Amino acid sequence: MVSFSILAAAVLAVVPGTFAAPSSYHETIGKQLQARQGGYYSYWSEGSGNFGCNQQGGGKYSCTWSGQKGGGFVAGTGFKPGGSRAVKYSGTYDAKGPGYLSLYGWTQNPLIEYYIIDSYDILAPGEPWTHKGNFTFEEGTYDLYTSQRVNKPSIEGTRTFTQFWSVRTEKRVGGTITTGKHYDAWNKAGMKLGNHNYMILATEGFSNGTLLPSGSSSITVS
Ligand SMILES: *[C@@H]1O[C@H](CO)[C@@H](O)[C@H](O)[C@H]1NC(C)=O
Ligand SMILES: *[C@@H]1O[C@H](CO)[C@@H](O)[C@H](O)[C@H]1NC(C)=O
Repeated sequence: MVSFSILAAAVLAVVPGTFAAPSSYHETIGKQLQARQGGYYSYWSEGSGNFGCNQQGGGKYSCTWSGQKGGGFVAGTGFKPGGSRAVKYSGTYDAKGPGYLSLYGWTQNPLIEYYIIDSYDILAPGEPWTHKGNFTFEEGTYDLYTSQRVNKPSIEGTRTFTQFWSVRTEKRVGGTITTGKHYDAWNKAGMKLGNHNYMILATEGFSNGTLLPSGSSSITVS
């Protein structure tokens, strides 16, 4: 069954000595998605910055944002559970500052947060990441990375967990992301996923403490 969900969240995370990484609101995202089965939609926003996202039906959503220090948001339409699937999407994405246009998801056992990034302005991951190689297939070339988050919010609450990343060498907006190809490439690089929770074609923007995000996106997942 295909179900579309949208979520949008922004939180002011006050963590002295660190910047507000995007994952600081993922716990809430997980809860929001639980309630959104059957097409439920809500927009939730808090913290500094003007973040506005709307669901327009049929897998389409749009966002405009103008962030302030400490703010961020994630919004998208997608699937729960996530898993191996050819995710076709189209639209526009015009972003400045830290943030991503990505196929974004979570697994459990082990708890993994993952990104398949098709476009971005500035890559500013919250933690130092480790390059694990690259892979090329008919949809493009992607570099693989892992990073670790220690005692950060997750869909299971505050946890220590690993992030997996595929970052496209040539940015694009629109196309097909065959998630299973990335899962296979990750597996070959020793990056093991768990049981799929949700995955969305997400727009994310966040302040990394220095740079502020701004932009707009309009994305349709088919
Ligand atoms: C992929 O990795 C190989 C081996 O490290 C390297 O030679 C090649 O240049 C890389 N390709 C891209 C597109 O980064
Ligand atoms: C934010 O990202 C920019 C670009 O990568 C970097 O130069 C800057 O140091 C980052 N700020 C913090 C606080 O990490």
